[in-house]
Amino acid sequence: MAAENNGHHTGSTTQAGIPAVSDRNSLTVGADGPIVLHDHHLVETLQHFNRMNVPERRPHAKGAGAFGEFETTEDVSQYTKAALFQKGVKTETLLRFSTVAGELGSPDTWRDVRGFALKFYTTEGNFDLVGNNTPVFFLRDPMKFPHFIRSQKRLPDSGLRDGTMQWDFWTQNPESAHQVTYIMGDRGLPKTWREMNGYGSHTYMWVNEAGEKFWVKYHFINKQSDKFETIDGAEAERLAGADAEFHRRDLFNAIKEGNFPQWDLYIQVMPYEEAKTYRYNPFDLTKTWSKKDYPRIKVGTLTLNRNPENFFAEIEQAAFSPANMVPGMGMSPDKMLLGRNFAYADAQRYRIGTNFQQLPVNRPKVPVHSYNFEGNMWYEHSGARSYYVPNSFGDSWSDETGPVDNSFESDGDLVRSSYTLREDDGDFVQPGILVREVMDDEQRARLVQTVTGALEGVIEPVLSNAIQYWKNIDENVGSQIESNVRAKATV
Ligand code: HEM
Repeated sequence: MAAENNGHHTGSTTQAGIPAVSDRNSLTVGADGPIVLHDHHLVETLQHFNRMNVPERRPHAKGAGAFGEFETTEDVSQYTKAALFQKGVKTETLLRFSTVAGELGSPDTWRDVRGFALKFYTTEGNFDLVGNNTPVFFLRDPMKFPHFIRSQKRLPDSGLRDGTMQWDFWTQNPESAHQVTYIMGDRGLPKTWREMNGYGSHTYMWVNEAGEKFWVKYHFINKQSDKFETIDGAEAERLAGADAEFHRRDLFNAIKEGNFPQWDLYIQVMPYEEAKTYRYNPFDLTKTWSKKDYPRIKVGTLTLNRNPENFFAEIEQAAFSPANMVPGMGMSPDKMLLGRNFAYADAQRYRIGTNFQQLPVNRPKVPVHSYNFEGNMWYEHSGARSYYVPNSFGDSWSDETGPVDNSFESDGDLVRSSYTLREDDGDFVQPGILVREVMDDEQRARLVQTVTGALEGVIEPVLSNAIQYWKNIDENVGSQIESNVRAKATV
């Protein structure tokens, strides 16, 4: 909500509401003399200006978004009791799109994964689905995530981005091959955010009223286009200079003109027990589930229909977290998902402040009755109510014991180990299928072109490792990349 002018005073005020005399001239000794320190309005203006920014998000710094509505149009109550996913229910939402590696001012059209972070303001509290425009990720252990992000950002000495560092990380971590194949393909340069799909990527749990559990994957399929609309690499480079906000502008203008983008939400559902024997480890975030094995089931439709009134308040300060889940859903043994559970709210307490959940954009639409108190910017205070539980003064608290309805089994001793492999679980199996069976000839040709360009300037031994990595994905594609790269090197 924008602050109103208070009616008594036309013109501006200080932040204490005191009429400000001038926003154009500071207080000076005579017209040409020095300014004085007791010009509180000037001092406050400069001080506040120095604090206008908050730290940018560590990954996913550059982005924008809009508000909208999700409507559950199908009956999926056999899979979940979550209130928002009951047929006919409409829920207000916020969706933020982003790039991953670039900083706050970086161009929208750098090749990268795009974030697709969705907040549902449900009647049971906020549910955040923090996904991407690809169904997989580079890694399957959260221990590697900070290393990964650093390798995609900037060198410690020059502060430059560096292909050698990026490819070194990817080739040293071959589980990245599937996601790298996606981003070197058309999804790495979406034409607009409106024409891209969004994926929860992880395997999540759904629980129905009877307590039955299912594994689900979320797919938001855009209704603007039925193919992956991409931008040609040279055009993307031109736009990076000519219009660094190309995607942001497209979304804002579309919504302003009443051209509201839509996505249909589908889920893939795997019966709980089948996860134990599926040919791919279904909790490995570098893998997809075959749509032949688990076809998409429609749930509802998301519409974006309202631009932010204030970018900073409603987008920059927005805070999404995979830990925000409502009854009727749950986590899975996916190690990345479990790691992310900790990371987001921790980042936001640092980035925005202890009470970031009290800001209007983050605040749930339902009352909060929490036993966490105080900290900076403690605004929605709890008056004199009890500070502790159990208490003798009628202040309610929660006290369930025993098994939880969204539990899953785990077994064995504590170990440090990678996932147990299943029969089809090689790191290069699914990327190979993506290259040979999903991409057409033109897309494969673009892939070879893109990788050739991305390997420019990459030094040994990383260059040879990268060529081998592509041969492992697909012998043909790898050989074409090799001859292109070697031909360039001899020019
Ligand atoms: C262990 C792995 C990961 C860690 C530790 C991690 C950590 C983070 C952190 C700290 C932020 C910034 C949050 C903020 O300042 O508000 C962030 C943003 C984000 N992450 Fe992750 N991340 C991980 C994996 C993933 C994966 C697998 C996805 C997608 C499937 C993802 C999607 C996003 C998105 C979309 C954002 C931007 C959210 C927004 O728009 O505000 N991340 N991540």
